Amino acid sequence: MKAVVPALILAPSLLAGDHAHLADSAAAVAQSGAPWLHLDIMDGHFVPNLTFGPETLAALRRAGSKLFFDTHLMLSEPQRYIESFAQAGANLISIHIEPAYDHTATLARIRQLGCQCGIVLNPGTPAQAIEPLLGLVDLVLVMTVQPGFGGQSFRRDMLAKVEQVADWRKGRNLGFRLEVDGGIDLANGAECRAAGADTFVAGTSFFKAADKQAFAAAFGKL
Ligand code: DX5
Ligand code: ZN
Repeated sequence: MKAVVPALILAPSLLAGDHAHLADSAAAVAQSGAPWLHLDIMDGHFVPNLTFGPETLAALRRAGSKLFFDTHLMLSEPQRYIESFAQAGANLISIHIEPAYDHTATLARIRQLGCQCGIVLNPGTPAQAIEPLLGLVDLVLVMTVQPGFGGQSFRRDMLAKVEQVADWRKGRNLGFRLEVDGGIDLANGAECRAAGADTFVAGTSFFKAADKQAFAAAFGKL
């Protein structure tokens, strides 16, 4: 059976929202029509910054958010926190390839808990590092900045990596989503789309957009 080419999805990043009023920021995402909410979880170890944890996801669910929670774990030991995030309401949990732990078992555990699973590559990590895992994931995330902070500049040199992963997906008839994250706006989003990406994380550009509905609609038609 031929794998279905996925529709385009915008995943606004809560990192660029108002941290004193995260539920309002999540509501603004829902109102824009964007179907996903990207949640950046940082441990001050794998990346030099701290954000929020599972309790924040649970609180957003309690506040009524029905968005698809696209949870990006930037953790040295993500395998220790999978249950907590699944229980808190994550729909998809992505883990990085760079730290040393059992990636295959962790991806399987994520699935077992009823979530979709993703694998993430830092800018300095070659696409080949995740090649053996491609058949096991629902999403591949190619970082287009060094993770740790919002508001950085998009790295155009990552487009070749997006193309490589898209080629593998096509050649092997796989159906995973291909996401880009870091410095994404409409202009470079179109370049990522041309390279094969179908899922776009946007933090700064989304929350700065005066008309968020128009912004989300434009991403849906890249
Ligand atoms: C970076 C995070 C990104 C970040 C994107 O470490 O993984 O998801 O929130 O923010 P912008 O779109 O501002 O680069
Ligand atoms: Zn992210």
